[in-house]
Amino acid sequence: MSPREPKSAPHTVAVHGGEPRRHPEAAMTAPIVQTATYTFEDTAELRDFFEGRTERTEEYGRYGNPTVRLFERKLAALEGTEDAAAFASGMAAVTTAILALSKAGSHVVLFSDCYRRTRQFVTTFLARYGVESTLVPPADVDALEAALRPNTKLVISEAPTNPYQTVPDLARVAAICRERRIKTMIDSTFATPINLRPAEHGIDLVVHSATKYLGGHNDVLGGVIAGKDGLVGIVRELRNVLGGVLDPHAAYLLLRGTKTLALRVAQQNATAQRLAETLESHPAVARVWYPGLPSHPNHEVARGLMSGFGGVVTFELKGGLDAGTQVVDAARIPRIAPSLGGVESLIEQPALMSFYELTTEQREAVGIKDGLIRYAVGVEDADDLIADLLQALERA
Ligand SMILES: Cc1ncc(COP(=O)(O)O)c(C=O)c1O
Repeated sequence: MSPREPKSAPHTVAVHGGEPRRHPEAAMTAPIVQTATYTFEDTAELRDFFEGRTERTEEYGRYGNPTVRLFERKLAALEGTEDAAAFASGMAAVTTAILALSKAGSHVVLFSDCYRRTRQFVTTFLARYGVESTLVPPADVDALEAALRPNTKLVISEAPTNPYQTVPDLARVAAICRERRIKTMIDSTFATPINLRPAEHGIDLVVHSATKYLGGHNDVLGGVIAGKDGLVGIVRELRNVLGGVLDPHAAYLLLRGTKTLALRVAQQNATAQRLAETLESHPAVARVWYPGLPSHPNHEVARGLMSGFGGVVTFELKGGLDAGTQVVDAARIPRIAPSLGGVESLIEQPALMSFYELTTEQREAVGIKDGLIRYAVGVEDADDLIADLLQALERA
C-alpha cells in the first residue's frame, strides 16, 4: 500500500499503510535496520548511486534508514499526503520545519495558544536571527488575516490547542494564506490523522509530536511532518544537516504503536466525550473545555473539520488551586505526568506543571486558571475512569 493509495479506511491504513506486502525474510513485521552506515561493493556502485543509476536509497544513517522510511510512509498514508519526514522528537520536527521555511526579514504568524516551546522558539530564538513574528488570539482567523504582512512566509497553528482545545477554521486559514502564497503549518498532535487530516482542508504541512498518540504507549519520543513532496523534501534536507533524525528502534516502536492508532483513538474519543459530559453537570466544576461539547466556543468549527474530538478534557474546579490539587491527588487511575495520548490516562494541573514558575497573577494573564485540570484519557475502561474521577471530585 503506497502513500498515494489513501482510499482504505483509517483503521486499515493504520495497519498496512506505507508497508510492503512482504518484509525481508517474509517477516510479518518491519525489520529494525540498526545501522549507522551502508556499504558499497566497489566505487562503481558508489558512482551509480550518486548518478541515480540504481534503485538503492540509503547511503549514511543521518540521510535515511529503511525502518524510519516505513514510518514516514505510514504517516503520509494516514495524512493523505505525498510524503512525510520523521524526527527524533516533536520539537525537532517543529523547529526544523520552521527554520526551513523562514529566513532573516521574514515574518511568522502564530495563534497565541500554540505549544509554548514552539512559541518560545519563534518569538525568542528566531527573533535573534531577524525573523519577525506576531501572536494572534486563539482561533481568531480575522485577527490572523489582519496580521499578515507582505513579508509573512508562514502561519502556524494547532488544532485542537492546549489546554483550552481551540480549533481554528483551517479551511479559511488555508484559503487566506494560499491567496498570498504564505505556507501554513498545523501541529495536529492532539487531533491525530484519525480525527483530522489538515491536508484535506488545504494546509501545507502537518506536524505531530509522535511521542503522544502515534507512539501511544508513553515509551518513545518522536516527531513527524507530512505534506507535499517538494515541501517535505526541503524540510528533510535541513533535518539531514541539523541531525535531529529518528532512531531506527524508535521508528519500529512508532510503526508498532501506529498500527493500533485508530482503535485507541476511537476509544479515547468516546471516553473523553463521556467524561466531559459528566464533568459539565458536576456541581464542583466551574467549566469544561472539550471540542465535542456544544458549549465549547469552537464546537461548530470542530464538527465541520473533525470526525472525533480527541482524548483530552480540560476542566476548572470552583475551588481553585487547592481543590484541583485534592482531585489530582485523589484520582487513583490516572498517573500524574506531562504528556498525553498514551494507553495510560494522565492527569495534571497546569498551574503546577507547565506554568509552575509563574505567579497566580502571571498565570491569569496568560489565561491559565489555578483550578484548571487537564485529563488525558488512556484506554482503560470508561466506567472505571468516570467512577474514579467522581470519587476524587467528592473530596474537592
Ligand atoms: C502540541 C505539541 N506539539 C509539540 C510537542 C513537542 O513534542 P516532543 O515532546 O515530542 O518534542 C508537544 C509536547 O508536549 C505538544 O504537546
